[in-house]
Amino acid sequence: MLNICLFIAIFTKLFVSISGLDATPDWLYSSDPDCGLSPCQLIESRNFICEQHYVTTDDGYIINVQRVVNPILKAAGKKTIKPVVLQHGLFGSSVHFLVNSAGGFAADWTNGTGSVDITTEGRNLAYFLSNFGYDVWMPNSRGNKFSRNHTNLNPKKDPSFWRISFDEMIAYDSPAVIDYILQKTGFENLAWVGHSQGTLLIFGLLSEKPEYADKIKPFIAMAPIAHVTHITSPIRYLTEIPGLMDFFYVAGGELTAPQVLLDLMAEQVCGQQVVQPACGNLLFLVCGYDAEQFNFTRVPVYYSQGLGGTSAWNLLHFGQNIVNKGFLKFDYGALINYQRYGTFEPPAYDLGAITSQNIILMGSANDVFADPTDVETLRKSLKVPFTEYRIADQQFSHLDFIWAKNVVDQVHKPMLDMLKKFQ
Ligand SMILES: *[C@@H]1O[C@H](CO)[C@@H](O)[C@H](O)[C@H]1NC(C)=O
Ligand SMILES: *[C@@H]1O[C@H](CO)[C@@H](O)[C@H](O)[C@H]1NC(C)=O
Ligand SMILES: *[C@@H]1O[C@H](CO)[C@@H](O)[C@H](O)[C@H]1NC(C)=O
Repeated sequence: MLNICLFIAIFTKLFVSISGLDATPDWLYSSDPDCGLSPCQLIESRNFICEQHYVTTDDGYIINVQRVVNPILKAAGKKTIKPVVLQHGLFGSSVHFLVNSAGGFAADWTNGTGSVDITTEGRNLAYFLSNFGYDVWMPNSRGNKFSRNHTNLNPKKDPSFWRISFDEMIAYDSPAVIDYILQKTGFENLAWVGHSQGTLLIFGLLSEKPEYADKIKPFIAMAPIAHVTHITSPIRYLTEIPGLMDFFYVAGGELTAPQVLLDLMAEQVCGQQVVQPACGNLLFLVCGYDAEQFNFTRVPVYYSQGLGGTSAWNLLHFGQNIVNKGFLKFDYGALINYQRYGTFEPPAYDLGAITSQNIILMGSANDVFADPTDVETLRKSLKVPFTEYRIADQQFSHLDFIWAKNVVDQVHKPMLDMLKKFQ
């Protein structure tokens, strides 16, 4: 594993320095129009209007949020039902809710879907919810490729920009985004649909600031994550490589593959039909296996668009929690922990402090990140009633929430019913 990672890292560095490329040249894009488009370009390609919003957090990070506006509902003078936040997972971005499948054009489904087959047309969650009348907002977590800006730190020059993990997303990003949207729209509460790390951000927020329960109705947690003790993805082995965690701590910085390499893989390698199964298998290796529901023809899109990047410390934080077996804050080492927290060990998020009774857990059996044992720990930690929805498809895996072919029946339709109860 380490050898492969080192090889990729060295190869990438060499490739970028020799080729002198830091942006993807146009000739690389050919096989699918969704490759290489920005979130707004994707949204506009489906005839929606894209609004860019920039939310400044209390610690100066500038969070880029895309809002999907449905021009057909707008022209008909129909008001949106309520704001829904779609929050991506680790290494993800808002693009995750935009590229499951081709199509998904702007329409008005608020009075029925007519002859449209929504099991194929409704696979991109953002367009799906917008067509049903919801006001869709998609924040990008600090440090991903769309949220790299700060009022006075330069991500390219200031290493301290990258000394962040999900602790700061919990403490600053999520509350700032929620307050911003409520203020802009005049609504008293919004729906939060998180995937993976996008659920952890709210479990953390509701633990630390239980008053946010009034602002989040409901909180729908797809592939819910708080504890990661039993994670079975190979990323757990990274924690067993001697010295690697210390290296991450000291090195810090950002963690991503250069976009040009991803695009090269997407187009020149994974764009070839013969190797598409191999490209799919590489994704499965890390993210869990479900070939049945995977559209191999779209592998170039998933490679080119799938990785949004994050800070090295954020991944390290997950590694620490695998080792420490808890939903704990970042471990800076005994001395700094003591300065920051007043204890030598990092404190735990207190899930027992959550008062919200509007939490819906959407877990699936075949999830290598949100392992059923960890979801069970989460369930037991919640001291309040919550709703549980189990995905019927037993093969449904972590990233199937994002790119499965059967996502409409398994996830989107039940989600509509959940949202209706909070209208
Ligand atoms: C569409 O549905 C809304 C809410 O259910 C209703 O008020 C409205 O009259 C309907 N419009 C049409 C054209 O059926
Ligand atoms: C970063 O944010 C500042 C302040 O809002 C803005 O002036 C600048 O254009 C932004 N830079 C980028 C690259 O988005
Ligand atoms: C798979 O993706 C390709 C390219 O977007 C599309 O043409 C095809 O219809 C998709 N197949 C299924 C079964 O969704």
